[in-house]
Amino acid sequence: MANLDHEKNRAAWNDMVEIHYDHPDYKLKEFLNGWNSLKEIERTALGDVNGKSLLHLMCQFGMDTLSWGRLGADVTGVDISDKSIEYAHKLKQAADMPDADFIRSDLLELNGKIDTKFDIVFQSHGTLCWLADLNKWAEVIAYHLKPDGTFLVVDGHPYNVLWETETMTYLDKKPERYKNERDYCDRDFIIEKELVEWQHPLSEIINSLISVGLTIEFLHEYDKGFYAVEEDWYQVGDYWYPPNGAPRYPLMFALKAVKK
Ligand SMILES: C[S@@+](CC[C@H](N)C(=O)[O-])C[C@H]1O[C@@H](n2cnc3c(N)ncnc32)[C@H](O)[C@@H]1O
Repeated sequence: MANLDHEKNRAAWNDMVEIHYDHPDYKLKEFLNGWNSLKEIERTALGDVNGKSLLHLMCQFGMDTLSWGRLGADVTGVDISDKSIEYAHKLKQAADMPDADFIRSDLLELNGKIDTKFDIVFQSHGTLCWLADLNKWAEVIAYHLKPDGTFLVVDGHPYNVLWETETMTYLDKKPERYKNERDYCDRDFIIEKELVEWQHPLSEIINSLISVGLTIEFLHEYDKGFYAVEEDWYQVGDYWYPPNGAPRYPLMFALKAVKK
């Protein structure tokens, strides 16, 4: 049965994707001219993906998915938002990558919709907070990995909750619901529809993956972010720092696990 909070997010993301697709921050023009949207952490962590099958979870309009495709991976992207998948198809046509696959599905309902097993399952940058249940999330990852397959997640550090919101705590179980939020990309766009976010501490992320039998290869924490949270953040390479340099707390993490 569909998760009703996820369905609310689906509706809100449909509105947001329309704004994001050709927003300058997402660099559509550069991508179509050959630029690769993947950042240093995921590229280093996964290394050579040439000839490997890769499932990209929560892919939005698929720019990162297609970027893995350009590095030689055989790619499939999944997203709950209808508009995301519509735009992903548009982007794959514009990029002339007819072999890339995109599937609309709530991530937590993916098992049974596709049975394919992949060499790599990947997700990044603004994903875990949209998931109500990390045990189911981990089951989906384990189910779709081949033996010896690799899972990589790069995302905002759960510690961020302490400075991003005043209402949630690090160990909060209840989701946060909000409306009329400013879009992170187009700061003039107000997302009128309700969004629902969950807080997942590192222990929950790690333990859910262990509980489905995955072996953790590494967990890294970083003092840099994957986007400019405020306008005064500055960029170094692929990443962003708040004014006055690196903060005293982690902004991102990367976790790599394998299915033995
Ligand atoms: C911040 S974006 C991820 C950005 C992504 N790294 C990219 O390359 O653009 C979050 C995405 O998660 C999707 N999403 C949210 N809840 C989901 C769910 N339950 N199942 C699948 N996708 C979901 C949204 O539709 C949105 O496209």
